[in-house]
Amino acid sequence: MRAVTWQGKRTMSVETVPDPVLHSPDDAIIEVTSTAICGSDLHLYEVLGPFMDPGDIVGHEPMGIVVEAGRDTRLAVGDRVVVPFTISCGRCWMCSRGLFSQCETTQVTEHGSGAALFGYSRLYGSVPGGQAEFLRVPHADFGPIRVGTELPDHRYLFLSDILPTAWQGVRYAGVGAGDTLAVLGLGPVGQFAARIGVHRGARVFGIDPVPERREMAARHGVEVFDPGSDTIAAIREVCGGRGPDAVVDAVGMEAHGSPLGGAAHAAVGLLPDALGRRLMETGGVDRLAALHAAIDLVRRGGTVSLSGVYGGQASPMPMLTLFDKQIQLRMGQCNVKRWIDDLLPLVEDPADPLGIDDLVTHRVPLGAAPQAYAMFQQKSDGCIKVVLDPRKEHHVQP
Ligand SMILES: NC(=O)c1ccc[n+]([C@@H]2O[C@H](COP(=O)([O-])OP(=O)(O)OC[C@H]3O[C@@H](n4cnc5c(N)ncnc54)[C@H](O)[C@@H]3O)[C@@H](O)[C@H]2O)c1
Ligand SMILES: [Zn+2]
Ligand SMILES: [Zn+2]
Repeated sequence: MRAVTWQGKRTMSVETVPDPVLHSPDDAIIEVTSTAICGSDLHLYEVLGPFMDPGDIVGHEPMGIVVEAGRDTRLAVGDRVVVPFTISCGRCWMCSRGLFSQCETTQVTEHGSGAALFGYSRLYGSVPGGQAEFLRVPHADFGPIRVGTELPDHRYLFLSDILPTAWQGVRYAGVGAGDTLAVLGLGPVGQFAARIGVHRGARVFGIDPVPERREMAARHGVEVFDPGSDTIAAIREVCGGRGPDAVVDAVGMEAHGSPLGGAAHAAVGLLPDALGRRLMETGGVDRLAALHAAIDLVRRGGTVSLSGVYGGQASPMPMLTLFDKQIQLRMGQCNVKRWIDDLLPLVEDPADPLGIDDLVTHRVPLGAAPQAYAMFQQKSDGCIKVVLDPRKEHHVQP
């Protein structure tokens, strides 16, 4: 089969690799019909390089059709499924508390990590990912979300990651009707977090340097701002002079505008692997511009909820401000299955209350993945969300 593989810093290539096979009775194989590129894939592209091996198959936002089902999966050949990016057993101590991204069956203890993830480096188990024609799904007795056949792929696809991630971010932010919420970063995760905030009745401020990302959010009832110097003052002003009740940071460790972290990023990417790993494990590789803005912006006694991923072990944090402002911090990898019962009705609602029809800017053949990664990272050609179509090329071949 064809699959998108990591080959080195900023180098993805589409290669022919062996088809996946069942390893256990609770595995399934799906033929992938749509598979998205995520902001998290950009971390592999840059800072997580020291934990990648050339040839690793990437991708963690897939859906498709079951073509082989192990006898313990409760799936049938032909089922249409979305595959959550977190691999969880559904039965362990953590899973039984809804903390699926901490699953104790799949935890990658060797690296001190939580649940295994598809296509996400040695840190998360080196599980072959979903940007491929076929995907082996471990723990398919629990993970895959069976969906209907009427709606197009893009309506369901984001249940794999960014919709539940944004939902968890807003739930952890604790906002509801009449509250104020600022969302930093209007990439795909921030788009959904902002819209979910609006859907829950909050007044939502969205901040991103990229004009078309602000325009997209504005189409969904979000008040948008450039992260310029007076943005914090302007938002604070309209929130009674105090600041919003909560801030969701949907930017993460690759924020623009913090030169110190920038230098560390370059260093981690360029050092020999062992040294790069040590710097990640002991150094402060995160660019904390967005996180510091969130801490500054949120009102006293408010909540900062991090959807964006941070990865360094010694990133400097403004403890004085955090403590003095009595800020609550929540974060973590999404517990995908925890939120599917809330989200599925919204996804299937013909009125499309979260505006899912307005997110994907590019749908391209799997073979175009290398260019699509570069475009998504550089935010060129108005790119906001890319979906790869593994079946497209076949259709044009005789
Ligand atoms: N917690 C989870 O389970 C989970 C799941 C999926 C994604 N994520 C993370 O969420 C983050 C966002 O993902 P995405 O797919 O939306 O990616 P993305 O890279 O497209 O979005 C990041 C956005 O932040 C903006 N930005 C950069 N610096 C900024 C700043 N200083 N202030 C305001 N905005 C700024 C960028 O312009 C961009 O639009 C990533 O860190 C990703 O790894 C986490
Ligand atoms: Zn993702
Ligand atoms: Zn578990």
